[in-house]
Amino acid sequence: MAGTPQICNMKVVVVGSGGREHTIIKKIKMNPEVTEIYALPGNGGIAADATCVDIGAKDIDGIVKFSVENKIDYVIVAPDDPLVLGAVDALEAVGIPCFGPRANAAIVEGSKVFSKNLMKKYGIPTAAYETFDDADKALEYLKTAPIPTVVKADGLALGKGVIIAMTREEAYEAVKSIMLDKAFGASGNQIVIEEFMEGPEITVLSFTDGNVVVPMVSSMDHKRAHDNDEGLNTGGMGTIAPNPYYTKEVADICMEKIFLPTINALNAEGRTFKGCLYFGLMLTKDGPKVVEYNSRFGDPETQVVLPLLESDLLTIMMATTNGTLAETEVKFKDANACCVIMASDGYPEKYEKGYEITIPEEVADKVFVAGAKLVDGKLLTNGGRVLGCSGVGDTLPEAIKNAYDVVSKVHFGNQYFRKDIGARALKAYKE
Ligand code: AMP
Ligand code: GLY
Repeated sequence: MAGTPQICNMKVVVVGSGGREHTIIKKIKMNPEVTEIYALPGNGGIAADATCVDIGAKDIDGIVKFSVENKIDYVIVAPDDPLVLGAVDALEAVGIPCFGPRANAAIVEGSKVFSKNLMKKYGIPTAAYETFDDADKALEYLKTAPIPTVVKADGLALGKGVIIAMTREEAYEAVKSIMLDKAFGASGNQIVIEEFMEGPEITVLSFTDGNVVVPMVSSMDHKRAHDNDEGLNTGGMGTIAPNPYYTKEVADICMEKIFLPTINALNAEGRTFKGCLYFGLMLTKDGPKVVEYNSRFGDPETQVVLPLLESDLLTIMMATTNGTLAETEVKFKDANACCVIMASDGYPEKYEKGYEITIPEEVADKVFVAGAKLVDGKLLTNGGRVLGCSGVGDTLPEAIKNAYDVVSKVHFGNQYFRKDIGARALKAYKE
C-alpha cells in the first residue's frame, strides 16, 4: 500500500510496566520483522515476551540513553507520565521516531483545566465547569453550586483525582483535600468543578497522525472495585468491546462533534496530536459528551481493543508518526472481547503481595500481566491489579465465557476479581 511504513529488522522499545504494555508487546511481537523488544521497565510477566530493562518510565534521560546506545528503531511511549514529561520530544531530538504525542499535545491529559478550556473554546460538548486556583473561591462557589457536583484535580493523579460529591459537605471536603491538604501534590494547585453528568460511559481509543483520526473499536470499562458497580473507584476491573451503547448513530455524532473538532482544535493551537487519543465519553440525554481525554491507550481498554485488531499494530503506529495514517489499513475483527482483571484482595486500598502466580502455558497468550515480579524464577504478585485474562468470541456471552475460563485456570494467593464483567453490556443489548 502506498505510504504504508516499511518495517524491516526492527528493534523496538516499549516504555511502561502494566497490562496495557504487555498487550502492546504481545501484539507487535506478531510482526516477524520485529527482532527485539525491550520493555522499560516491564514486569515479571512481561519478561516472558520482551527483554525487561530496569529503567523507570519517568526516567526520560535513561530512556533516551538506552535507546541511543542500543540503536533502537522505534519507541512506543505507553503511559501518561513520560508523555507529559516530554519523552517523545526528547527522543525526537536525538532522531528516534516514537509512538505518542509530544508534551505540548499530551497536555490534554496532563491538565484538565487545559482540556476543559480547549473544549469550551472550540464548542466540543462536555460538562459545564468552573476552574479555580484558590481554595476560598472554590468553597465560596460551592455554596450555591448544583449538587451532585464533580471536583477534579488539574494534573495527573493516578486516576484518583476525581471526586463525585453527592452532597455539599463532600464537595467542600474534596476541595480541601485536593487544594489544601494536597492529596495529589502539585496536581491539585488548580481544580475543575463541573456539572455531574449521567448516562452510560463509552471509551473510544483512536489513532491519529494529526491529519486524520481513526477510531478503534469502542469499549466499556468497569471502574468500581465490586460487583454491581459498588465499592471504590479503581484503575479498571475489567472491560468489554465493542460497547453496545456506541451505535452507528452515536459514532457519527462523535466523529462530527467530538473527534474531528478535537484534532482540528489541537492543530489550531499548534499542538498537533500524534499517537493514541483516548476519548472518555458519556452518553447523556443531550447526546455524547467528553468526560476526559487521555493521551494514550487505556488500561484495561487496550486488553480488549488490541485482541480485536486485525491489521498490523506496529505499521499503524508508525503511520501515526510519519503522517500516513490515511493510507494505512486499520481493520478490526467483527467479534467481541472481554478482559477480567485479577487483583490482590483489598485493592484499591490495602493489600498483601508476594504470592506465587501460576499461568498455565495453554492460556499464557490470553493473560496480560501488570503487577508481578520475578524472584528466583517464580512469578510473584507485586501490585493491586495483578493481571488481566482476556477472551474473544463471536458474541459477547462467548467472549465473557472465554475470559472467565482463563480466570479459572490462573491462580495466586489473595486473588480477587469481579464476577460480573460484561453484565451491564449484556443488559444494554436486551434494552
Ligand atoms: P476522569 O478521570 O475525568 O475520567 O473521571 C473518572 C470517572 O469519574 C469517570 O470515568 C466517570 O465515571 C466519573 N466522572 C468524571 N466526570 C464526571 C462528570 N462530570 N459527571 C459524572 N461522572 C463523572
Ligand atoms: N481505564 C481508564 C484509563 O486508562 O484511564
